[in-house]
Amino acid sequence: MGQATHVLAIDQGTTSTRSILFDATARPVATAQREFAQHYPRLGWVEHDPEDIWRDTLVTAREAIARGGVPARDIAAIGITNQRETVVVWDRATGTPIYPAIVWQDRRTADVCQSLKAEGAEQMVRDKTGLLLDPYFSATKIAWILDTVPGARARADKGELAFGTIDCFLLWRLTGGAVHATDVTNAGRTLLYDIRRQDWDDALCRLLRVPQAMLPEVHDNSHVFGTTAPGLFDVPIPIAGMAGDQQAALFGQACFARGMVKSTYGTGCFMLLNTGDTAIASDHRLLTTPAYRLNGQMTYALEGSIFVAGAAVKWLRDGLGVITSAHQTHDMATEVPDSHGVYMVPAFVGLGAPHWDPDARGLITGLTLGATGAHLARAALEAVGYQTLDLAQAMVADGGAAPATLRIDGGMAANDWLCQFLADMLETPVERPTHLETTALGAAFHAGLATGVWPDLDALSQTWRRGACFEPRMGASDRAALIAGWHAALRKALSTD
Ligand code: G3P
Repeated sequence: MGQATHVLAIDQGTTSTRSILFDATARPVATAQREFAQHYPRLGWVEHDPEDIWRDTLVTAREAIARGGVPARDIAAIGITNQRETVVVWDRATGTPIYPAIVWQDRRTADVCQSLKAEGAEQMVRDKTGLLLDPYFSATKIAWILDTVPGARARADKGELAFGTIDCFLLWRLTGGAVHATDVTNAGRTLLYDIRRQDWDDALCRLLRVPQAMLPEVHDNSHVFGTTAPGLFDVPIPIAGMAGDQQAALFGQACFARGMVKSTYGTGCFMLLNTGDTAIASDHRLLTTPAYRLNGQMTYALEGSIFVAGAAVKWLRDGLGVITSAHQTHDMATEVPDSHGVYMVPAFVGLGAPHWDPDARGLITGLTLGATGAHLARAALEAVGYQTLDLAQAMVADGGAAPATLRIDGGMAANDWLCQFLADMLETPVERPTHLETTALGAAFHAGLATGVWPDLDALSQTWRRGACFEPRMGASDRAALIAGWHAALRKALSTD
């Protein structure tokens, strides 16, 4: 039998599901992608149909394999990466979800979080999980499903129901219901997992009212979790890597050394700083989170999470209709000398780090009759730069050294104008790799490490290739004036001043 040469990555994101086949040089050889429906049943609610997600996973995985022209027996492993925190609860006997997936952006449990905070529970939560009491995370959503679906809580207590983030649900389906497991990066986003002891925590499960009987096993990111069920592919394929998408992007960007930092621009923007084996407790409302665990050895990260980045551009296209494609924002931002005093605070689903204000709402300030669609497009891109700066400053204030460079990826990183603005705001060179699919690559790296496609982290680092570098060039006073305008606009969007 010959050596298997390829790794298939499944990247299940917030708005689309993608499968990418990588060869042993970490080059993407085939891609298949599908967008799927977003459901907004009430103000502040966001749901997905888990069956859509499963169907698209299978369809895109098969399509990528077929397009790559690689026989399934040459695929060493599958790696899964996923939108994090999103919650699925299903019946163990049938594998059927008992409620739609409640998405990370969903704010329906804001009141529960507020009450828990008022009871003084946040410090314990922070100490154990590195997170905050915000509806962003999984636990309050799980409890909401158990309290809402008739009979669910009693069934969960009896062990009849399973909880999983999307990685875990897909693993269950891919293994034909044989494996109920997740990895440390996804477990670390539930509010139920003690990231230092590296185990589910009794006190947190009691506080947040989630029965332990429904929780999955937790493993390293590079680990043979299981094998695909007969009939799904031409031959069974091991599933050997799993990681939440932001941690996967850090890994795919080869940020393996303490102090290295990446920022991914997808639906939201997530900046992660590798802090090595130290879980730094943030004093500036950043998150402390597992970055990856290999051979039982945990590496941690400090994370800044912005909920809306590409989503603001999507809104310009689908909500306002001022653009027909996201790519247009580059030329529109370039064709005007400035934003004409227009600022957009994209708090469409509240604000994440460092404000954590679920009740903040989006606004556009500085409108005059001279403002055009181009100014709006520019303001939407600029908001991404300002928010990234807020995160970078919080990281430095938390004791992280200012990074030598920022590695960026995600769809918006293709926009040169945005890259230059980021470099100007952060006063740091911004590096973009040749391939922007670093999230999928990170999942492939984990799966390939577990199955011998790559021997070690050095081999992975050697595959990283710089495509472009943007050096800061804006004058200090221009920069200061722009930032002051941003802070003035931001203050107006916060629900409390
Ligand atoms: O925490 C949410 C994050 O994982 C979603 O990522 O790429 O779908 O914006 P993305």
